[in-house]
Amino acid sequence: GAALRRSTTEPSRLVSRSCYSSGPHPERKVVILGAAGGIGQPLSLLMKLNPLVSSLSLYDIANTPGVAADVSHINSRAQVAGYAGEEQLGQVLEGSDIVIIPAGVPRKPGMTRDDLFNINAGIVKSLCVAIAKYCPNALVNMISNPVNSTVPIAAEVFKKAGTYDEKKLFGVTTLDVVRAKTFYAEKAKVPVAEVNVPVVGGHAGITILPLFSQATPKSNSLGDEDIKALTKRTQDGGTEVVEAKAGKGSATLSMAYAGAVFADACLKGLNGVPDIVECSYVQSTVTELPFFASKVRLGKNGVEEILGLGPLSDYEKEGLESLKTELKSSIEKGVKFANQS
Ligand code: NAI
Repeated sequence: GAALRRSTTEPSRLVSRSCYSSGPHPERKVVILGAAGGIGQPLSLLMKLNPLVSSLSLYDIANTPGVAADVSHINSRAQVAGYAGEEQLGQVLEGSDIVIIPAGVPRKPGMTRDDLFNINAGIVKSLCVAIAKYCPNALVNMISNPVNSTVPIAAEVFKKAGTYDEKKLFGVTTLDVVRAKTFYAEKAKVPVAEVNVPVVGGHAGITILPLFSQATPKSNSLGDEDIKALTKRTQDGGTEVVEAKAGKGSATLSMAYAGAVFADACLKGLNGVPDIVECSYVQSTVTELPFFASKVRLGKNGVEEILGLGPLSDYEKEGLESLKTELKSSIEKGVKFANQS
């Protein structure tokens, strides 16, 4: 069928004109695959509000027309288009600068992220085949779980297509950082807006390793037990939400926020804004594992520099060693899946 194109209404007089002309920011097309889902909808809203976005392409296998129509009425710069069928993937993806992928099924109570593997791995694989075909130069922000495996799957698909650029593939671990900042601020009684905490490793259970020894502002009031409790709460943050939602899914609103923060950082990097640093799960030589989350400097081509881990406490060193087995096997599982049939 025809694309469900919706363009924004006339700009409101209350909003500065420069938002609508080519303005101070270059044209940037952002695509969301899985845009009608629990994460997809609020993420579509947040990306529509981002003045760095000139074109917002929303895709899902169901319900996109309504989401696109709804979001398109917001009087901000981005022109919105909604697409609902696989045969439209070409139109969806062509010319995109960033593709964000929250497509797939979320966890229910009692499930690990790895339990999602069989369904989501297939979805991610087919979407990445389309990305390789229609927008091989776009930055890919992978949200679909298990991120520890879906990122290696994407890499393998791109390698097979001959389009792989390790600087352009990101596992979105920003929600772990968002949680670590919130929980730390609460416990250390410091203003949350000033808090920074790197989170490294991967994006599931013990592979999530927050480095509270590097947290700023420094706090002298936190003892070893507090740090352990904060670490555990950050690692189990997703499960906290899954249990509270009691069968209705996993984090969507905080995830949409985190996804929007990460995509905004990628856009700024593409636009040449200096010193944009976020944690992300990327192809890496920081450890012996082929993929690892750490601080990454973003630039005009995606990853500009992968930063090292910095000094670790003994507790963090232990955590780093004990996460490697699980992370390694999740990576291998993804690689194996991508290369079968
Ligand atoms: P949801 O079920 O509410 O939404 C998923 C959407 O994907 C649905 O609208 C569905 O129609 C769509 N979809 C399914 N197959 C598709 C395909 N082939 N192409 C395009 N769209 C397709 O799930 P929710 O809560 O939005 O979660 C999405 C994913 O994000 C899950 O895998 C979840 O585990 C993951 N997630 C990741 C987090 C992270 O920190 N990286 C945090 C929270 C969730």
